[in-house]
Amino acid sequence: MEEKYRNNVGYVGWSCPSNIALIKYWGKRSVQLPLNPSLSMTLKKARTMTRLEFDYHPNNHNPSVHFRFEGNDAPAFEDRIIKFIKSIDSYIPALADTTLRIESENTFPHSSGIASSASSMAALAMCLVQMEEKIKGPLAPGKLLEKASIIARLGSGSASRSIYPNFVVWGATDDWAGSSDEYALPVTDYHEDYNQLCDTILIVESGQKKVSSSVGHSLMDTNPFSKSRIIQARQNLSTLKTVLTEGDWDGFIALIELEALTLHAMMMTSQPGYVLMLPGTLSIIEKVREFRNDTGCRIGFTLDAGANVHLLYASGDADKVNGFINAELVTFCEDGRMIMDQMGKGPSAL
Ligand code: PMV
Repeated sequence: MEEKYRNNVGYVGWSCPSNIALIKYWGKRSVQLPLNPSLSMTLKKARTMTRLEFDYHPNNHNPSVHFRFEGNDAPAFEDRIIKFIKSIDSYIPALADTTLRIESENTFPHSSGIASSASSMAALAMCLVQMEEKIKGPLAPGKLLEKASIIARLGSGSASRSIYPNFVVWGATDDWAGSSDEYALPVTDYHEDYNQLCDTILIVESGQKKVSSSVGHSLMDTNPFSKSRIIQARQNLSTLKTVLTEGDWDGFIALIELEALTLHAMMMTSQPGYVLMLPGTLSIIEKVREFRNDTGCRIGFTLDAGANVHLLYASGDADKVNGFINAELVTFCEDGRMIMDQMGKGPSAL
């Protein structure tokens, strides 16, 4: 019987945000599955916009991909995308018969030191899953986002979380019913105090990471503290759940800072060990702690796998915090660069 194809040619477009982990995913097994569950905050302004045109020729078996980044051909990115698309064709079989033209751009500068893999893989995954729906018909209700999260995860683990708004958990944990190592889940129960949580990203160093996150993850296989880290991450996640529901700022700040420093401790105690924090990172950490002690402002820091610092603070304290950043922290930023962001609502269709 002949299959009914909805659309053989079409267009889809998605804008997806980046995210910052509060409980860090560090270490993986098998096909991009996490050693421990993680929890992130979805950002609002740091986003990737991806537009995809497709041409589906059933049983043609001659797929191709043309990729442009910020208006230019981008062969290095294109190679990565071709590899990725080949790796997921069992999830989206139509890809084996599809020609793709993809255009992508970021709201943040390419060399800003902000990893774009979460937002770009999430945007691409949303496009591919929606394309599949257009070709083959709709997935079961609620399954589009779940499938997009799986596909995004296969591109970059943390990207699985960029599919959802606000706080997002990824990785199987008894604390969240329905949580999975395969895809992320939105956290719906949290105190209203955290709405519009601010994140100012201080760019201490832009440019390429010295050690890629895939190398970093793999070093967890031999890290002597790996087992205790996994236990600690689970405990921290449980505690964060309570803290988020109760609106306990002291607990929130203590946890996010502990997680940031533990992530870097894992890097330092790997074999070979490496240090990604710079003198400016440490000065900022010290100043933030002093400022918090002196003013009682609800502010804490977290770090990604790099030297840049994410300052998370209550929107009600934004005026005081901005004064502090401008007076005392901007000096540690490369060319005074920072990105003012906040918690965001997740992907939007273009
Ligand atoms: O998604 P990846 O493979 O780039 O790993 C991200 C790891 C951290 O950003 C350091 C932590 C996290 O959970 O996002």
